[in-house]
Amino acid sequence: MAVAVFSRFGCCLALGVLFSGQILQTLGVGVGINYGQIANNLPSPTSVVKLLQSINISRVKLYDADPKVLTAFGNSSVDFIIAIGNENILNMTDPTKAQEWLKQNVQPYLHQTQITCVTVGNEVLTTGDTVLMENLLPAMQSVYQALVALGLDKQVNISSAHSVAILGNSYPPSSGSFREDLAEYIHPLVNFHSEINSPFLINAYPFFAYKGNPDSISLEYVLFQDNPGVTDPNTNLTYDNMLYAQIDSVYAAIKAMGHTDIDVAISETGWPSKGDPDETGATLENAAKYNRNLLKRIAMNQGTPMKPTVPINVHVFALFNEDLKPGATSERNYGLFYPDGTPVYDIGFQDHVLLSSPSSATLMAWSRFGILISAMVMMI
Ligand SMILES: *[C@@H]1O[C@H](CO)[C@@H](O)[C@H](O)[C@H]1NC(C)=O
Ligand SMILES: *[C@@H]1O[C@H](CO)[C@@H](O)[C@H](O)[C@H]1NC(C)=O
Ligand SMILES: *[C@@H]1O[C@H](CO)[C@@H](O)[C@H](O)[C@H]1NC(C)=O
Ligand SMILES: *[C@@H]1O[C@H](CO)[C@@H](O)[C@H](O)[C@H]1NC(C)=O
Ligand SMILES: *[C@@H]1O[C@H](CO)[C@@H](O)[C@H](O)[C@H]1NC(C)=O
Repeated sequence: MAVAVFSRFGCCLALGVLFSGQILQTLGVGVGINYGQIANNLPSPTSVVKLLQSINISRVKLYDADPKVLTAFGNSSVDFIIAIGNENILNMTDPTKAQEWLKQNVQPYLHQTQITCVTVGNEVLTTGDTVLMENLLPAMQSVYQALVALGLDKQVNISSAHSVAILGNSYPPSSGSFREDLAEYIHPLVNFHSEINSPFLINAYPFFAYKGNPDSISLEYVLFQDNPGVTDPNTNLTYDNMLYAQIDSVYAAIKAMGHTDIDVAISETGWPSKGDPDETGATLENAAKYNRNLLKRIAMNQGTPMKPTVPINVHVFALFNEDLKPGATSERNYGLFYPDGTPVYDIGFQDHVLLSSPSSATLMAWSRFGILISAMVMMI
């Protein structure tokens, strides 16, 4: 009805204002962000609290359980995913050590900081380290049992983040399957997820697919821009972006192992704003498009073609550029922000929230406009 009013009055400006209003309201619950700290120039956690509050982000994922961060965010109503690093997986198979870890890193913060999930290991199944791979599930089980013993299993989930490279086949999405050589690890792992109702986490970077095949993969398709899309011949579902196809491939791979009751969430996705000469696509413009368009999809509460009613659950990588990350130039340039807190590029909502918070006069104009529209709608 409101749309009819707008088109009748041809009021494009109004639509723009309402759309940014919608993003303002949903960004907080919508998107999460990865707060990586492999850098020597990041602002203090207390400043980061203020930065995140200014852009209304209320979900943060850490790669450890940094007490300085968890303390600084006390009473901030930001939800945390914290992590047990790969180096600590073997220790965690010991129930006593698992319980000690929770007592030290989770329990003391819970009265003022919500910790919704503990990840055990990052991309363990693609390390090639068979000792680590064999111990992943036992470590997760042991940490879960420790949570139960402490009475925390209802408020804290246990999971592990995987690279999408654990997929053997990802096209078409309905035929998604895990690598055969990893099935012996993944099958019991998904059984465990189903048993304890915890989300399956994947780190998914359409950037890598594009970088590897810029001639055959459409940039529009990976950047959520207008494009004809790709239709899955088995389901007739059309995919207009690669990230959704990757998520649905993981759903299909889990289903092929007998489970339809496990949520798939994106623990990392992002796009670098800078890269080496051979890193095709790593530009400021593409990074801005990827993250801006992704945020719009999240604000729309969109699900994937296979799960249209389940809004995608995303933690963007990353909050800051991290100067000490090894590897290609892109690795140090995934941040939405420079360490001094200035944005690397404009991600749409910044006009309204980040760079200039709307003056009270603007807000009054918006609300008066809203009342006017309601009145017009009621008159029709
Ligand atoms: C921030 O997010 C919360 C929760 O979604 C929402 O209620 C609030 O209106 C948002 N505030 C701004 C300024 O966007
Ligand atoms: C959070 O609130 C508690 C209780 O009021 C207080 O002791 C604690 O210092 C607060 N934490 C922060 C970081 O403000
Ligand atoms: C593993 O446990 C031992 C003994 O408790 C401890 O000294 C060591 O630091 C732990 N390893 C890690 C990576 O935390
Ligand atoms: C734990 O994961 C399940 C499945 O994804 C979800 O329904 C539940 O809300 C999560 N719990 C918390 C505390 O986030
Ligand atoms: C997909 O569309 C084709 C052509 O309309 C139709 O023949 C086929 O039965 C459809 N398949 C499914 C799974 O809906």
